[in-house]
Amino acid sequence: MTLNIPFKYAKPVLHALDPEAAHGIGIKGMKMGFHPTHKIDDPRLNTMLFRQIFSNPVGLAAGFDKNAEVIAPILKMGFGFTEVGTVTPLPQIGNPRPRVFRDTANDCVINRMGFPNYGYGIFLKNIQKTKKLMGGIIGINVGMNKEQTEPAEDYCALIKRLAPFADYFTVNISSPNTPGLRNLQAPENLSPLIQAVKKTRDETENKPAILIKLAPDLTPQEQEEIANVLIDEKIDGIILTNTTLARPDILPQNFANEKGGLSGAILTKKSNDITRNFYKLTKGQIPIIGVGGISNAEDAYERIKSGASVIQLYTAMIFKGPDIAKDINKGLLSLLEKDGFKSIQEAVGKGH
Ligand SMILES: Cc1cc2nc3c(=O)[nH]c(=O)nc-3n(C[C@H](O)[C@H](O)[C@H](O)COP(=O)(O)O)c2cc1C
Repeated sequence: MTLNIPFKYAKPVLHALDPEAAHGIGIKGMKMGFHPTHKIDDPRLNTMLFRQIFSNPVGLAAGFDKNAEVIAPILKMGFGFTEVGTVTPLPQIGNPRPRVFRDTANDCVINRMGFPNYGYGIFLKNIQKTKKLMGGIIGINVGMNKEQTEPAEDYCALIKRLAPFADYFTVNISSPNTPGLRNLQAPENLSPLIQAVKKTRDETENKPAILIKLAPDLTPQEQEEIANVLIDEKIDGIILTNTTLARPDILPQNFANEKGGLSGAILTKKSNDITRNFYKLTKGQIPIIGVGGISNAEDAYERIKSGASVIQLYTAMIFKGPDIAKDINKGLLSLLEKDGFKSIQEAVGKGH
């Protein structure tokens, strides 16, 4: 049984609280069954990716369910897939609070959480429980502990141990809140890292796909160099994008002054542009998961036409509530019909 409180009543209460406290209440509520249930089973929304069938192209992005506590509620809310984590091998508390900030005028968030999570042990227990309960596509987003000086060790340890529970892995090298992490995007670091994680993955039984999650702040030259590495190393997929360090002028000054990664509506164009560019650079040969500022069906459709095979969101759920996956999927079906596409897969990259 699920209990649904309309978001219009819950939102003022939740938004009166510190964002992280509100998030904690949301997670507890979801565990108790306080969430809407939407069954989305239109075959036009099916997508075949990484040897799996995604029932619809709208996923929940990493960071919402860091400890794999609410996989079942998220999938019941109508998301086609969920990406849990970022998980690190050892538990860590992250940066001091407050570390998440909302800008309600522009539907944006700044966070500098720094991968707080319970660590691999509890994550494993949680995901084991859930996997028994339901199918559904689960991506696992892996990161390194702050003190780790050999990043590949952490990524490989997690991939080795968590592979049986992953439909795909995301190697997160783009969070701005772990010192030095984004340097792993540099080609001389990226190639050996991909080789190491792929080798570990190849030794697992189910051999989940390996995706690399990138920042939106890469210069055109960096994008080109990285695309060449990803092609050469035969990566399975790319997630574009993480949060940005940019601070557009439109933001209120006190909000803009907070350190961390900016997400939400203000990121839409930047993430879309970089998705278009990577689709072009990789000649549409490497599947892309598009994320960053997607808050409605039009944003999702545009991202797909720019080259994303499926999309994710996080910040829009903070402002629009838990019916968002249902609403976007419904809107996507109308947009497909309008343009005469028979399925969502047909629309991928058609904006080029
Ligand atoms: C509070 C918060 C925490 C996040 N934590 C993570 C994380 O642990 N790992 C990760 O890869 N991305 C994390 N992200 C980034 C999101 O997954 C996503 O890439 C980014 O927010 C852009 O999408 P959005 O505009 O739909 O939120 C986080 C975002 C927010 C707002």
